[in-house]
Amino acid sequence: MKIGILTSGGDCPGINATIRGVCKTAINNYDMDIIGIHSGFEGLITKDVEELTEKSMSGLLYYGGTILGTSREKAFMRKKLDINHDKPSIIKQNIEDLGIECLVCIGGNRTQTFAHQLSEMNIPIVTIPKTIDNDIFGTDYCFGFDSAVSIATDAIDRLHSTASSHKRVMVIEVMGDKAGWIALHAGMAGGGDIILIPEMQYNIHNIGDTIIQRLKQGKPYSIIVVAEGIETRGRKRAANFIAEEIEYETGFETRETVLGYVQRGGSPTPFDRNLATRMGGYATELIANKSFGRMVALKGDKVTSLPLNEVINKTKFIPLDHELIVQGKRMGVCFG
Ligand code: F6P
Repeated sequence: MKIGILTSGGDCPGINATIRGVCKTAINNYDMDIIGIHSGFEGLITKDVEELTEKSMSGLLYYGGTILGTSREKAFMRKKLDINHDKPSIIKQNIEDLGIECLVCIGGNRTQTFAHQLSEMNIPIVTIPKTIDNDIFGTDYCFGFDSAVSIATDAIDRLHSTASSHKRVMVIEVMGDKAGWIALHAGMAGGGDIILIPEMQYNIHNIGDTIIQRLKQGKPYSIIVVAEGIETRGRKRAANFIAEEIEYETGFETRETVLGYVQRGGSPTPFDRNLATRMGGYATELIANKSFGRMVALKGDKVTSLPLNEVINKTKFIPLDHELIVQGKRMGVCFG
């Protein structure tokens, strides 16, 4: 059997580990040939592919990014082709031409949606969720998230000493798209005093009161962790908006840090390596059992799968009774 594998959407730590999980399981247990497709779905238009062998898997476990390259689905769908066909039909034809009998798509929310569309065209598909944002519906965790949280936590740790030395308010903006998973987990792990997530409304006066209260307790500095997706009254950068509002409200000297793409780069944490490896292996087992149209998922401590139509058009937001929020509030963390 010949399987094709591609990575699509924003990269994250752990993708190469999952490619390795898929391929080594396929090579060691089944008579499967693997075709690596370059640059996401775009590679299925241009037939930009390579054969993946046991040798290609060397050194992948700890290597960040994706060896196959990636592209955003939105940009790819917008790109004009000089061919008079719609992209999904070209992809279907090229999959047949390449002799691919199942396509493994590794990606975030948009990848799941596009993969579902292809699956509805009778293309055998198995998907693996990946994103630092942890916002894919149907899986408790995505690999990439733990690595991003670890990087963001380290950054928050480092801000503490400079914040206290200068008696400043430090605002740090982390990624997460429309969800606040990274902000909540890194904010709590890094001892943030104020954590702002898109799932909860904030009031700038409450934030100001918290900062002044801390001053009265002998703590003349504060760390504010903001998710990039919070409401900013049309302003582009959440950190910049919050820093200006705080300075105006409290008169405290305030500085901002936008952590940006470092959160997506570098080597995966051991947790992400193992999750990625398990998910990759599970995807191959689904293929061997001809169980198509499904996304691999983590439920509790078990890797499992669910139908793609149960995943798409949804975003996994933080429930407001999340234990980290409840415990944070008990300890005086301000969530807005
Ligand atoms: O999906 C991961 C993510 O890093 C988000 O957290 C962020 O909003 C977005 O991608 C950035 O997208 P791009 O790579 O297209 O700039």
